[in-house]
Amino acid sequence: MSTTLLTERDEWKALANHYEKIKNVRLQQLFAEDEKRGERLSAHAVGLYFDYSKNLITDETLRLLLNLANACKLRERIDAMFRGDKINVTEHRAVLHVALRAPRDTSIVVDGENVVPAVQEVLDRMASFSDRVRSGEWKGFTGKSIRNILNIGIGGSDLGPVMAYEALRHYSQRDLVFRFVSNVDGTDFVEATHDLSPDETLFIVSSKTFTTLETMTNAHSARDWALKSLQNEKAIARHFVAVSTNKAEVTKFGIDSANMFEFWDWVGGRYSMDSAIGLSTMIAIGPENFRAMLAGFHQMDEHFRNTPFDRNLPVLLGLLTVWYGDFFKAQTVAVLPYDQYLKRFPAYLQQLTMESNGKHVTLDGARVDYETGSIFWGEPGTNGQHSFYQLIHQGTKLVPCDFIGFCQSLNPLGSHHDLLMSNVFAQTEALAFGKSPEALKAEGTEEWLIPHRTFDGNRPSNTILAERLTPEMLGRLIALYEHSVFTQGVIWNIDSFDQWGVELGKVLAKKIIPELEAAKEPELEHDNSTNALIRFYRRSKRK
Ligand code: F6P
Repeated sequence: MSTTLLTERDEWKALANHYEKIKNVRLQQLFAEDEKRGERLSAHAVGLYFDYSKNLITDETLRLLLNLANACKLRERIDAMFRGDKINVTEHRAVLHVALRAPRDTSIVVDGENVVPAVQEVLDRMASFSDRVRSGEWKGFTGKSIRNILNIGIGGSDLGPVMAYEALRHYSQRDLVFRFVSNVDGTDFVEATHDLSPDETLFIVSSKTFTTLETMTNAHSARDWALKSLQNEKAIARHFVAVSTNKAEVTKFGIDSANMFEFWDWVGGRYSMDSAIGLSTMIAIGPENFRAMLAGFHQMDEHFRNTPFDRNLPVLLGLLTVWYGDFFKAQTVAVLPYDQYLKRFPAYLQQLTMESNGKHVTLDGARVDYETGSIFWGEPGTNGQHSFYQLIHQGTKLVPCDFIGFCQSLNPLGSHHDLLMSNVFAQTEALAFGKSPEALKAEGTEEWLIPHRTFDGNRPSNTILAERLTPEMLGRLIALYEHSVFTQGVIWNIDSFDQWGVELGKVLAKKIIPELEAAKEPELEHDNSTNALIRFYRRSKRK
C-alpha cells in the first residue's frame, strides 16, 4: 500500500502544470492540427470501438495520465485483485467478481481454497433450476407451473438483475413475467403483485446478508401474501428460493437450504449480478445466454489484465474520469446509451460507480485533498436530448459524456436505427465543435439572437460503439465500467469495495421506527428539526 499522498506525487504535479497549459485548448484546433486524431485516439478491443478523441486531451495528457497510473502501481493492484489478495482492506476481504466468470479450469485461491469449482457448481445448480422453471417442470404448490418470477432485493441485489433483464429482454422467454421489488414502500410490492396469482408465482429473495431491512420486510410481506392464498407452510418450498451468503438467516426465514443459491463474501453487492444474484436473469434468458454473458465479462477481464495501458479500454476510461473530475473539476459524468434496452444501465452504473468511489479517505485513513467519485447519471438517447441536453450543450457546467451505441438493431424497423444512430454522431459532433457566431451570422441569424443560438462546443465525450447488444456484449460493457471504477479507485488510493457511508442512516432509521409506531407520545432526543418532523408525521398519520 502506498503512503505517498497523491497530490504530492511528481506525476500528479506534472498533470496539474499541464492542465494549466492546456485548460483552454480547443477541440476544433486539436482536430485541425491532426487529421488522423479520430482514428489515432480510439481503441478497438473485445468487440468495442472506443473513440476518445473528442476529449480535452493531447498526447502529452495521455502520457502524463499513464505515468500517474504507473506511479500509483495500477499494474500491481490489478494483479493483486486477480490473485485474490484482500484488497478490500476495511472489510478484510478479497475482491473476486472476476472469479464469477472465470472459465471452469481456472484456479483462483482464497484462504487456501480454489474458489472456481464452487462458482461453477452454483452456476450448474442455477442452470438446472432455471431449466425446470422455464420448461414448466417446476410446479407450484397447487401443481401449476410458474409463470411469474419476482425478484426481491435492493441495491446490488436489485439494480443488476433489473438492468440485465431489461437489457436482455430480447433474449428472454416471453411467456414468463418478471418483476422486481426493491423499495420498502409497500406500493412497490402491492403494484408488483396486484395482478398475479400466488400459485403461479416464484419469489427469489436476493440478499447478500439476508438482513437488509427493505428486502426482509418485502420478503415477509411476500410470504404472507402467498400463504394467505395457499394456506399451507409447505407451499413456501415451492414458491420461495433464496440467493445469499447467509445460510443461517435463509433457514431462519423458512427457506429450505436446498432452495438456496450461494455466493461469497468476496463478491461485493454491486459486483454481484453475474453471481447467483443473476438467477432471475438466467431464468429469463436461459443458462446458455447467461454463460455467454459471463464469457463477455471474462473477455473484458482478460483485456484489462493483459493489455498495455495505452490501449486498455477500462484504464483509458478511468483515467479520463480522473482527468475531468480532478483537474477540470467536473462534478458529473453523463452516460447516454442509445439503446432502449439499456434504459436502466445509468441507474445500475450509479451504484457501481458512486457506492464504490464516493469516499473521502484513503486506504490509510487520511482525508483526501482531491476530488474522488464523480456523480454518474443519464437516460437513454434520444429521450435525454429533449430534456437535459440543453444544459450539456449551452449550460455553465462541464459534463463529460459517454455515448453508447450499437451498429445493428435488435428490432429493425424502417429507418429507426439510422435515425437513432445519426443522433449519436450528431450530438458528439455538436458538443465538440459547436456553432460559431460567424456561422450563425452567415446564415442570416438576427444579431440579437446570435448569443442565444451560439454553441461554444469544446464539450468532451467518449463514444463506445459495438456491433449488437448480445448477452456477451452486455458482459463486456459492464466489466468495462467495473474496471474503470477500479482504475479510478487505485489512482485515488481509496477502498472502492466497502460502503460504510450507507450505515449511519440505517442505524438511525432503526432507532426512529419505534418512535413512529409507539402508541404513547415518545420522548424524542433528536435535533429539533428531526423531532418536529417526527411529531408532524405522528399527528398526520393518525388523522
Ligand atoms: O446499500 C448498502 C448495501 O449493502 C449495498 O452495497 C448492497 O448492494 C445492498 O445494500 C443490498 O444488500 P444485501 O444484498 O445484503 O441485501
